[in-house]
Amino acid sequence: MRDDLEIVVAADENWGIGFMGTQNLVIPEDRRHFREITGRSAVIVGRRTLADFPGGRPLKNRRNIVLTRDRSFTVEGAETAHSVEEALELIRDEERVYVIGGESVYRAFLPYCSRAHVTRLQAAPPADAFFPRLDELPGWRLADPGQLREHEGVQYSFQIWERADRG
Ligand SMILES: NC(=O)c1ccc[n+]([C@@H]2O[C@H](COP(=O)([O-])OP(=O)(O)OC[C@H]3O[C@@H](n4cnc5c(N)ncnc54)[C@H](OP(=O)(O)O)[C@@H]3O)[C@@H](O)[C@H]2O)c1
Repeated sequence: MRDDLEIVVAADENWGIGFMGTQNLVIPEDRRHFREITGRSAVIVGRRTLADFPGGRPLKNRRNIVLTRDRSFTVEGAETAHSVEEALELIRDEERVYVIGGESVYRAFLPYCSRAHVTRLQAAPPADAFFPRLDELPGWRLADPGQLREHEGVQYSFQIWERADRG
């Protein structure tokens, strides 16, 4: 079983990640950080999160795998997978794969991940989508808390979480 996928997520202090289908707080530096990490790797994304991308289009320069149960769903520039197993099969030969949300996709793929790049925001905007609370999951540890940064009064850091049995 593959267990080396990585997660990229921005989570607030309550592990909130979104509100009404979109990200609840956006920090430009975090967008750059996201692009740097995901680079030219493959990404796995939920159909709802894809819908929130500009024009509903997949990310450029990366292999996009969209999770959907709708077998008629297609989108130019992306492949579709209809189950976790199907997605894992598609990425079998990929060296690096990033799971980029949203909530249901993070939850479904967490058991297959070994590292999470978490932009941790010290704020509590309204949220209705949440990331699993890694600080309460025994299998995970904060490997690097990152430096404290600030954008328009909001403090944040680029944290790295790893499975406790790694590194
Ligand atoms: N802060 C962050 O870093 C970040 C990153 C990404 C997303 N988000 C936020 O997360 C929220 C969206 O999360 P969400 O859970 O509503 O949506 P999502 O995970 O993006 O997409 C959900 C959809 O993915 C498909 N899906 C999920 N699990 C599946 C499975 N096991 N097999 C096949 N298809 C599956 C289904 O598509 P169908 O309905 O087509 O069947 C499901 O409706 C938004 O608020 C978004 O802004 C935040």
